[in-house]
Amino acid sequence: MQKLRIGVVGCGRISDCHFNAIKNNNNTMEIAAICDLNPTNLQRAQEKTGANPYTSIDDMIKFEKLDCISICTPNGYHYENAKKVLKAGINVIVEKPLTLNYSEGKKLFNLANKKNKQVFLIHQNRFNPTIQCVKNALDSGAFGKIYMITSNIFWYRDDDYYKNPSWHGSKKIDGGAFITQASHYTDIMNWFAKSELKSIYAIGKTRERKIETEDCGSAIIEWKNHIIGNVNLSVLTYNENYEGSITIIGEKGFAKIGGIAMNKILDWKFEAPTKEFCNISYDVESVYGFGHTPYYESIAKTLLNKEPFLISKKDALNSLKLLCGIVDSMNKKKIIKFK
Ligand SMILES: NC(=O)c1ccc[n+]([C@@H]2O[C@H](COP(=O)([O-])OP(=O)(O)OC[C@H]3O[C@@H](n4cnc5c(N)ncnc54)[C@H](O)[C@@H]3O)[C@@H](O)[C@H]2O)c1
Repeated sequence: MQKLRIGVVGCGRISDCHFNAIKNNNNTMEIAAICDLNPTNLQRAQEKTGANPYTSIDDMIKFEKLDCISICTPNGYHYENAKKVLKAGINVIVEKPLTLNYSEGKKLFNLANKKNKQVFLIHQNRFNPTIQCVKNALDSGAFGKIYMITSNIFWYRDDDYYKNPSWHGSKKIDGGAFITQASHYTDIMNWFAKSELKSIYAIGKTRERKIETEDCGSAIIEWKNHIIGNVNLSVLTYNENYEGSITIIGEKGFAKIGGIAMNKILDWKFEAPTKEFCNISYDVESVYGFGHTPYYESIAKTLLNKEPFLISKKDALNSLKLLCGIVDSMNKKKIIKFK
């Protein structure tokens, strides 16, 4: 079988998750090319992968025959890079967040549609066994009616985190703590809520770090099906990543997901017995978890077998709408209402 030829643009911190995931799926894909502007990062990635190295995405597109390119550059560069890939008629994988504004996200999907190509947005935690298990319980009605979905993200990011790399905490390239630190949580909340957004109100403040964006914030979300959500976020938690959780409060049950990468179901209670939650928690090595491997496996199934992808266009855009709504509300200091 012909293997999918994958290129990776941006060989920084997250790129190892991509390299490992592609290697773990080496029955269906191979890493053919890598690209980075930074020669040290490029060399490290070349030694690790043995793939053809490029310092320009344009050259990589021109000289390689690729089936798919992963964009792992800083947030604010996702749109331009993904656009180049799609324009060249190549499928694109985009690290979270898809883009830093909603209209650009929509433009990417429209372009993909025109070119008959796919946009895969990375929210690898959707593939976690813990998340899948809760999603199945939600879909089977085990929670009954859902009243609230809340998330606490109490992490620690020190001054050094914001100095290196320098894009961290910048308005234009990072977008803020909600976008960078909370996006996996808000994506799962939206997926669990199974409804269009109705309104968002968010407050953010920069209390300690010398950055342009918030280091603390809180957002209240209302979905059209009456579910109320809230997200409490701080990167100023004393000295550790203390909590990253989602709690679902339903008519017939509740559950709390936690662990550093949504890898544990911490607590649950249901009207009907639920053995499924008992042995599903697992340990991870980092906040990135293990989700990139099943994520790439699923991409191969979509590209090679035409199976539907777990994160649909609608899901990806709704996820982005929530994030951008939070930022918009913080900036305008008012409730954002959706039609
Ligand atoms: N899915 C996750 O859990 C997860 C975790 C961490 C980061 N991320 C996302 O991954 C992306 C990268 O984050 P990171 O922590 O690896 O950042 P990083 O700063 O460590 O790495 C980014 C790399 O991109 C390179 N780069 C920048 N512009 C480029 C361009 N035009 N062409 C080629 N290379 C370019 C930089 O030189 C750098 O090596 C961000 O969007 C971030 O939000 C996702």
